[in-house]
Amino acid sequence: MLKQLNKLRQTALAEIQQSLSLDLLKKLETKYLGRKGELTKILRQVKDLSAEKRPQIGRLANKLKTELQQAIAQMTNKLTGQRPEGSVNLDPTTPGQKIPRGHLHPISQFIKQIEDVFGSMGFEVFGGSEVETEEYNFNLLNFPKNHPARDIQDTFYIQHPDQKIRTGGKQLLLRTQTSPMQIRIMEKKKKPPVRSIVLGRCFRHEATDAGHETTFYQCEGLVIDKKIRITDLIGILQTVLRSIFGKQAKIRVRPSYFPFVEPGLEVDMGCLICGGKGCPACKQKGWMEMLGAGMVHPNVLKNMAKLGGNQWNPQEYSGFAFGMGIERLAMLYYGVDDIRLFYSGDLKFLKQF
Ligand code: FA5
Repeated sequence: MLKQLNKLRQTALAEIQQSLSLDLLKKLETKYLGRKGELTKILRQVKDLSAEKRPQIGRLANKLKTELQQAIAQMTNKLTGQRPEGSVNLDPTTPGQKIPRGHLHPISQFIKQIEDVFGSMGFEVFGGSEVETEEYNFNLLNFPKNHPARDIQDTFYIQHPDQKIRTGGKQLLLRTQTSPMQIRIMEKKKKPPVRSIVLGRCFRHEATDAGHETTFYQCEGLVIDKKIRITDLIGILQTVLRSIFGKQAKIRVRPSYFPFVEPGLEVDMGCLICGGKGCPACKQKGWMEMLGAGMVHPNVLKNMAKLGGNQWNPQEYSGFAFGMGIERLAMLYYGVDDIRLFYSGDLKFLKQF
């Protein structure tokens, strides 16, 4: 009877699993489990077995009965498209949950816009290292050691265990301005003309307020060629700022001092946050300082000779340079009244852009 049960199990399960209609399934149910079904007959014979065999065969036959009932139920569900009891309520046709997607930071979006404006005017775009040597960040830019102008650009000086090997022992620092790239670009280009911009981060040991951060972006411009004049500088700056802000952009140019330009100037924009009335972002002035600029100092061109570049003769070539504060421009562009919001990591702020 054991053999008979095993054989019945194999055939019955195979037939159930291969049945393609509910009709056929019903017939199989009757064939095996019906009143005169094959398994029912065996179950009825159990009582006539010897006391020895009865418990084992009885248990197996009952187990098979449950197994066949489950197989028939499962197949019925499959054929009718019903979910088995207790299963998860899953509808494969419902649309999935959207995974939230991030987007470019407002400053990155703004930087792209600036690159596009300068790109359309034929400027070459350079990157650059955020860690600089003191030589490039200050000395070669006509800021000798102990020059008082270094005080307003205090920064973080870096000690590296391999400093001697990597930089020949030169002092490393987090750059305070993108201006060291003026020297690096001239080194790379080897001779004039140059028409370039650099966009990158700068770092300063700064007491932060609505208009000052310890980390901020600058856009450095450098143009060197024959017969470059200060009016070219002002014209380019005006064109760029008007193409970003439109005609309402009011610009003011004031004399200023940077050791690597002569003459030096600063450009302010009418504060668009308060409409010129005065607010914390513009320090109640109605104007916001956007950039420093000027005509490249002859000493900077002469310093190129120290690096082996003899093509930068200040008698023959002149140029202008500028360094714009990207976050300051972005504050006016987006109407953000505190620079610190940009890097606060607050998603409620960032999601607005
Ligand atoms: C400079 O950094 C000069 N390298 C600019 C320059 C380049 C002058 C080429 C001449 C020729 P200044 O420290 O003023 O200058 O900074 C330039 C601009 O960077 C400022 O006008 C301002 O918009 C922005 N900036 C400066 N410090 C901060 C700060 N802590 N937080 C945010 N923006 C700043």
